[in-house]
Amino acid sequence: MEFKSKNLLSKIATNDGHGENSPYFDGWKAYDSNPFHPTQNPHGVIQMGLAENKLCFDLIKKWILENPHASICTAQGVDKLNDIAIFQDYHGLKEFRKAVAKFMGTVGGNKFTFDPNRIVMSGGATGANETVMFCLADPGDAFLVPSPFYAGFGRDLRWRTGIEIVPVDCKSSDNFRITRAALKEAYEKARKWNINVKGVIIANPSNPLGTILDRDTMTSIVRFVNEKNIHLVCDEIYAATVFGSPRFISIAEVIQDMDDCNPDLIHIVYSLSKDMGIPGFRVGIVYSFNDRVMHCARRMSSFGLVSSQTQYLLASMLSDDEFVGNFLRESSKRLSKRHNVFTKGLEQVGISCLASNAGLFFWMDMRPLLKEQSLQGELELWRVIINEVKLNVSPGSSFRCSEPGWFRVCFANMDDETVEVALDRIRAFVLSQENQEPDESKHWQKKPLPLSFTSSRLYDETIISPHIISPQSPLVQATT
Ligand SMILES: Cc1ncc(COP(=O)(O)O)c(C=O)c1O
Repeated sequence: MEFKSKNLLSKIATNDGHGENSPYFDGWKAYDSNPFHPTQNPHGVIQMGLAENKLCFDLIKKWILENPHASICTAQGVDKLNDIAIFQDYHGLKEFRKAVAKFMGTVGGNKFTFDPNRIVMSGGATGANETVMFCLADPGDAFLVPSPFYAGFGRDLRWRTGIEIVPVDCKSSDNFRITRAALKEAYEKARKWNINVKGVIIANPSNPLGTILDRDTMTSIVRFVNEKNIHLVCDEIYAATVFGSPRFISIAEVIQDMDDCNPDLIHIVYSLSKDMGIPGFRVGIVYSFNDRVMHCARRMSSFGLVSSQTQYLLASMLSDDEFVGNFLRESSKRLSKRHNVFTKGLEQVGISCLASNAGLFFWMDMRPLLKEQSLQGELELWRVIINEVKLNVSPGSSFRCSEPGWFRVCFANMDDETVEVALDRIRAFVLSQENQEPDESKHWQKKPLPLSFTSSRLYDETIISPHIISPQSPLVQATT
């Protein structure tokens, strides 16, 4: 017997808002079906599309071994089992909120004191970003998002909330800086289309650029949202990945020093997924300066609480000042070293990257290698890199970059030996391309044409399918 399945499920269940069915996953599939292993599969695909921080696991492991009382699943900690296992208050453990607030302050150079009573839990920054959207906007309302932006925003901000994303095009000619003019243009365009703009969301440091926002830029964005009376959400998930000067400045510090800012418009999203390299712990934070948003987000946090076992462990770990100080220093040292090895290695064959001092990735300029300055040209090159060079890097269109030819390369999810293999492969590929075009041996140094993709009205997943990746997909994670 045949059952009719039409309209059996909701629109959310049947739309493609999650993004997992996109061709982008060809890259993941290529990796999944042929993963690199130094001895067992040396010709396999190297995963460089995952923004994971695996460089300091040894420090966390060491702390856990030295502090068995902090885990309730040890002889030393099991006495706490009853208290912790039944704890389910959505305010979270007091010690956890205190420790996280202190950690956020330390990461920001102790220029601002975060209030533990404003710390609201969520399931990673993924849940935190969605929670903030639920608090600030209704279906059909829009947020302006400077592009290129984190590919998961499509899922996190829009899928279940029904809000829209209006990209703010930032240009390579301006180092992808967020300008007031670009914000204004996107805002006015949205208004012309009768879209109700509720705010701006930025990631600082930026994913995928690896750059940080300077104080002047942030002040200008704050002024903009104040003038328009819309919200500003700052996703500071990469705050502690800054590995060189200038230092990271939290939006909290910026507005503290301004006397013409309405704090009710400012909200921070944070997470320990990148800064501590523990995305599996699902520690996300909403920190809002708006009391009503904070209270609403806290009620909503029932849908994505951090397990009390995790809270208990982290309360203890993050209150250990010596550990935290050493971890943050060592982490940025290791990130800096890795970033240097990669970018200098690429420089040797004429590949340049956007200057950056943060993140778990860099933004590689492959424009001179495009056969055609277009989205198609970018995707063609991307396929060659995946299928022939066997590196899973992410094309700029995944991040809704308006100029073809940029690729995000993750560098902190592999060991030193794999880095060398990846570098050797890229160098060999570049040299082989140069040999194919002997007359144009200097084409690496040429300035590419500043062509752009045609700007779509909104962030529309059906237009440039690879930009709807969800790099943190549990489906993908389960197999990597
Ligand atoms: C800018 C940004 N926000 C949010 C997330 C989601 O992080 P989490 O693992 O904490 O949910 C990511 C993950 O890559 C990200 O890059």
